[in-house]
Amino acid sequence: MNKKQHVPVLLDAVLEGLSIRTDGRYVDATFGRGGHSRAILEHLGSEGRLLAFDRDPTAIGAVDKTLEQDPRFELVKGEFSELRNYAIERKLLGKVDGLLLDLGVSSPQLDEASRGFSFTTEGPLDMRMDPSSGISAAEWLAEVDEKDLKKVIAKFGEERFAALIARAIVAARDTKAITSTTDLAEIVKAAVPSRGQRKHPATKTFQAIRIFINRELEQLEQALEASLDLLRPGGRLCVISFHSLEDRRVKRFMRNASRVPEQFRGLPDVPPEHRPRLKLVGKAVTPSGSEIAANVRARSARLRVAERL
Ligand SMILES: C[S@@+](CC[C@H](N)C(=O)[O-])C[C@H]1O[C@@H](n2cnc3c(N)ncnc32)[C@H](O)[C@@H]1O
Repeated sequence: MNKKQHVPVLLDAVLEGLSIRTDGRYVDATFGRGGHSRAILEHLGSEGRLLAFDRDPTAIGAVDKTLEQDPRFELVKGEFSELRNYAIERKLLGKVDGLLLDLGVSSPQLDEASRGFSFTTEGPLDMRMDPSSGISAAEWLAEVDEKDLKKVIAKFGEERFAALIARAIVAARDTKAITSTTDLAEIVKAAVPSRGQRKHPATKTFQAIRIFINRELEQLEQALEASLDLLRPGGRLCVISFHSLEDRRVKRFMRNASRVPEQFRGLPDVPPEHRPRLKLVGKAVTPSGSEIAANVRARSARLRVAERL
């Protein structure tokens, strides 16, 4: 298979989770290469609608003619933290039947060396999903102070050697600017004790810097909050996460929104603003062995589904 393609993860479970109505309105907040979007459209009739987003201009540019010309489909370049505003503009508040968030990076983003996401191929240390906004990883590493760097690597990478790595990065940049992915990977590798780990020693540091540069967890929190305003009663929220930092937030958000707050539990009349707004649908779904064998990038995926009450 072409390396640059993106194989949609947990596709059947997403379609089941969205519980698609042929005339429904759906939002795919993470278009990528449109794998999930295309499958959703296949289940929609002529009255159905799909609005899709991606913050990456390359994803927007890669949309094919068939999709572009499909009158049921609209693709917007934007961040999903702004979902609420986009929904207001389109008079979609409370009218959406299903919202999908397939978090993280796409295969083309990872595989394209010039994007700077991968520590295995040499490229400029960029890591921005939208290269036209914010600063690159290289620019940030050139100026960040050691304490803040350590905090980011520890918090967003859950890396126990964060202090060692931050010290090594700061020492290295004093000699020579760190501008390539492989330079950074080598600095991290040399900084941590090697004990025959399965993963590359720079995996967690790259994850941490990417999450920080793209403000991924803030984006996620805002999109989750917005989902409550977008979905109609009975509408479905489906979120696929790829690491525990994301999944913990999704799980906590869905659990909190599906419960009456502690202080109101057991009262005969719970004020409307404190009533549950979501109902959990099943347990977290993970890919089968055969899906992982066919698409190794699915291995850490976890889908959670909830229904708007
Ligand atoms: C895992 S891929 C989605 C793949 C897609 N479901 C498919 O089947 O082709 C995640 C996509 O979401 C985009 N993305 C990540 N965070 C975003 C955000 N905050 N706002 C908009 N798009 C985002 C990325 O640029 C990437 O293209």
